[in-house]
Amino acid sequence: MKAIVVGSGGREHALAWKLLRSPNVTEVICIPGNGGTALLPGCRNVAMAATDAEGIARCALVNNPAFVLIGPEQPLAEGLANMLRAQTIKVFGPNQDGAQIESSKAWAKALMVDAGVPTAESAVFTDGPSAIAYLHEQNKAKGMPIVVKADGLAAGKGVTVALTLEEAIAAVEDIFRGQFGAAGDRVVIEEFLQGQEVSVLAVTDGLTIRPLLPAQDHKQIGEGDTGPNTGGMGAYAPTPVMPADLLARVQAEVLEPTLKGLRAKGISYQGVLYAGLIITPEGDPKVIEFNCRFGDPETQAVLPLLDTPLEKIVLACCEKRLADMPPFAWKEGASACVVMAAQGYPGSYRKGLSISGIDTAESEDSGVVVFHAGTRLKNGALESSGGRVLGVTAIAPTFDDAIAKAYQAINKIDFPDSYYRRDIGHRVKGQA
Ligand code: AMP
Ligand code: GLY
Repeated sequence: MKAIVVGSGGREHALAWKLLRSPNVTEVICIPGNGGTALLPGCRNVAMAATDAEGIARCALVNNPAFVLIGPEQPLAEGLANMLRAQTIKVFGPNQDGAQIESSKAWAKALMVDAGVPTAESAVFTDGPSAIAYLHEQNKAKGMPIVVKADGLAAGKGVTVALTLEEAIAAVEDIFRGQFGAAGDRVVIEEFLQGQEVSVLAVTDGLTIRPLLPAQDHKQIGEGDTGPNTGGMGAYAPTPVMPADLLARVQAEVLEPTLKGLRAKGISYQGVLYAGLIITPEGDPKVIEFNCRFGDPETQAVLPLLDTPLEKIVLACCEKRLADMPPFAWKEGASACVVMAAQGYPGSYRKGLSISGIDTAESEDSGVVVFHAGTRLKNGALESSGGRVLGVTAIAPTFDDAIAKAYQAINKIDFPDSYYRRDIGHRVKGQA
């Protein structure tokens, strides 16, 4: 069978790689893909933007894939899935209505409140003065920190955890000044929740929902989880912060009610529902955000542990037969993904930096796989094309071994202008 994967990041490389591990999958077409998918045997890149709905629909009609898997949120929010489904193409990824769970934080909040899903207390504003008045009130009542969020998609940059009232006010003003365009027409102000964050990526056919292994990522650029937020500097799975009993609570208190809430709105949601959770000091899971897609880099850490063929899960979701699937099979052990970025990221950085040695890093240990996040092939040679460049991933019986293996692999990669954190997985060091 043939499959199409839309997107160009480490997540999409990991998805294409995982699909091609199954003997049932003969070809993956990546739109547009990256240097890693170009080099992946069985995979072919088609140069077209991930948001070019008409182009992608044409490509699907010509190639007749078993399904189209949409990686990033932008095309989902723009209705790519609707357009493909209208042509009877099987799609993994929600329609535009369901994608609102990520594309509007206010919409997602209302859904959570209606469905009784535990989340931070919040209020939504459409103008600066009311938002600022509310900040003053909250500051008096509860003090800081407080969280200010642009309502819409802002490429991970729309959230400010404000430590002072001044910072919170500045964040509100920036959003209403139009820093994020239409994504900032509304502002969500939210109670600050303390605790560890866990990413639960769940797959659903709209009727049944099942979590994958829980993961954690490192959002901040600096070691010790300091400095500005990034798309994610590393990830690991399965996190011991979410043992089976807690995951069962997430299933019962978050995933199932959310799916029911979507259905109550007449939304048939097929694809990934990604719950970004905080585990409170009392041990309760609360949602801080939903995403309508696989997480990145979490997917790079989770998929190498999956034994069930990915195309079976995807098709079961597309065909509404997830309930009939046996439980997903997972490898024992742990995985760790360390992101190699270009120096300067998440600020300004250079592109076109040369990279070599990936073959050596992968061939010397079968538990290592290097996913490409921002690379391209130029005259046959590999170079960087983005801020996050590689996701060096390793699986091993323990976290310590997986982390050590990932760093050993990094040492074999020749990418002189790179930056990576040396403390990925510090929260799980010493744990099985
Ligand atoms: P989001 O885009 O909503 O995931 O927010 C980005 C990051 O901001 C999250 O990964 C958290 O680290 C932080 N964050 C968001 N909402 C809250 C909250 N209510 N309490 C504490 N931290 C938050
Ligand atoms: N790693 C966070 C995300 O994918 O949004």
